[in-house]
Amino acid sequence: MREHDIDELSFDDYDELRDPRPEDNGFDAVVDAAMSRRGFLGGVVAFGSGAAVMGTTFLASEAQAANRFGFNPIPTSTANTITLPEGYEWEVLVKWGQPLWSGTPDVDQATGGTAETQARAFGDNTDGMAIFAKGDKQILAVNNEYIQNKVLLNNREDGKAINADDVQKMKNAHGISILEIEEGANGWDVVLDSEFNRRITIDTPMELTGPAAGHDLLKTDADPMAKTVLGTWNNCGNGETPWGTYLTCEENFNGYFGSADAEQELPAEFKRYGIKTKSRYGFEKFDDRFDLSKNINEPNRHGYIVEIDATDPTSTPKKRTALGRFKHENAETVLAADGRVVVYMGDDERGEFLYKFVSKDAYVEGGSTEGLLSDGQLYVAKFNDDLSGEWIALTPEATGMTAEEICIHTRVAGSKVGATTMDRPEWVAVNPLKVEAYCALTNNKNRGLKTNAGGDETPVGGPNPREANKFGQIVRWRPVNGDHTDTKFTWDLYVMAGNPTIFDDDRAGSANVNTGNMFNSPDGMQFDSKGLLWIQTDGDYKNEGDFAGQGNNQMLIGDPATGEIVRFMTGPNRCEVTGLCWSLDRRTAFVGIQHPAADFPDGPGTLPRSCVVAVKRTDGGVIG
Ligand code: FEO
Ligand code: CA
Ligand code: CA
Repeated sequence: MREHDIDELSFDDYDELRDPRPEDNGFDAVVDAAMSRRGFLGGVVAFGSGAAVMGTTFLASEAQAANRFGFNPIPTSTANTITLPEGYEWEVLVKWGQPLWSGTPDVDQATGGTAETQARAFGDNTDGMAIFAKGDKQILAVNNEYIQNKVLLNNREDGKAINADDVQKMKNAHGISILEIEEGANGWDVVLDSEFNRRITIDTPMELTGPAAGHDLLKTDADPMAKTVLGTWNNCGNGETPWGTYLTCEENFNGYFGSADAEQELPAEFKRYGIKTKSRYGFEKFDDRFDLSKNINEPNRHGYIVEIDATDPTSTPKKRTALGRFKHENAETVLAADGRVVVYMGDDERGEFLYKFVSKDAYVEGGSTEGLLSDGQLYVAKFNDDLSGEWIALTPEATGMTAEEICIHTRVAGSKVGATTMDRPEWVAVNPLKVEAYCALTNNKNRGLKTNAGGDETPVGGPNPREANKFGQIVRWRPVNGDHTDTKFTWDLYVMAGNPTIFDDDRAGSANVNTGNMFNSPDGMQFDSKGLLWIQTDGDYKNEGDFAGQGNNQMLIGDPATGEIVRFMTGPNRCEVTGLCWSLDRRTAFVGIQHPAADFPDGPGTLPRSCVVAVKRTDGGVIG
């Protein structure tokens, strides 16, 4: 692969390229069993002829399906713009490089700006986001997951940093942007110079909390107590707590570390997390913190969930080690009947696991929330082929690891208890109208072919029923006693994505996928207030081969009660549609457009700018 193409890769694909899993030919018995299961499930799922894995609710109530969507679904698109159904409109709310404070120029098209302008502007590669109220003000917190280095460093050959200032600019484009927004006669705008505007970057001090805080594996020369860590990066999905704080999720944190010593021997646990001596952006050449030969423990301080009070610009973000360390996608939070806090979390890598955290104490309105995400029990999911499943507690007894080690080397703990290797768990969404949760399993080309990085087998079957899964699926589960703290659940597949214009086997997708709504690689997911599931895609947008006719990445809306799924939005060329929240009056949906193609959104000849768009009904009605 040419260097140019490598720069265009998503972080997940970059990881796979530099750290390929071994071909796994040693599990003939597993594969044989899997093949027979696949034959069974494939037939049922693809043609909807029976019960097994597809949601029984869907099959039972298909005939009564009513159009709860209120719009005419749109076709796929290959246009370099956003397309919406008739009766809807969009505008850009904020884009990469747009100043949050006056006195800072808009992004310089020739250079991509400077470290200083970037520190005062919206970050790159928008992702998860949430909106918070403070009085009558609306404050938006947005993840800036990673960077388009060839755009950001448009003044450098191949987007490569040549000095510390370039690295500082790259760091300042990461993290979280917090901005007050308001709707006026001319639509939505950023409130320049708002007291709430804030940039959190790779260098922002934050507090380590929970069991791993203070542990030897987290100590560095700069922080011998392992209590204060600098920064957060590769912030992917998000969550919101019942007490109004923002949760941001550190995903592919590993790719930022390198070593001046290419032959350096690294700890065994680094392999599981894909930490290597070569980094993606070369920070280690200009900042020792990212050089493993000088700071071997720095990677252990990242890969967590971070809690931020977006309504207090002076607050210190808190890394919550109790929620485990892995490639965190999002953190879907729900209160159980007894007030305990349940957080569902996916680990987005091929063959990694799905997790759940349950707080020790209950949330009490107005009470202290400090311990709720620091003290509790972490679980990992095991799915059985008979549509049952259980949450296995990651305890010292079950894993042979200390409580601190479980929080730091969480993947290893999951392997020790035999968790189910999944097809890349992306966002989890909890249905507000029913005690059930959904997780997007985006795709997994290694399913049935290669182990995960810990050597765990990835047999075809259960919620991962297709070998070399190219299209992805959405699994859902229901706690047996209707309580999210339960350790037993039942599960089914809400949808298996596919391409019914090319295939007539299980690659055609499940019965609720058709030529009118097909898609690949479900990723972002949120429920709206009406209990409809909004599904965003981050998949193959080449519109050819197995993906012919599927066009650009898109956003669909599903009805969990009927199984029906319809297309609501198509994004511009090359983009991923990711991140979703609503204005406080629910008349605007804010949608993230990450890494679009050149010319979007500013027109011909302009740099591509990742952006958040505001989508409204033209009649001003409630949107979701
Ligand atoms: Fe950042 Fe797994 O998506
Ligand atoms: Ca994602
Ligand atoms: Ca993805």
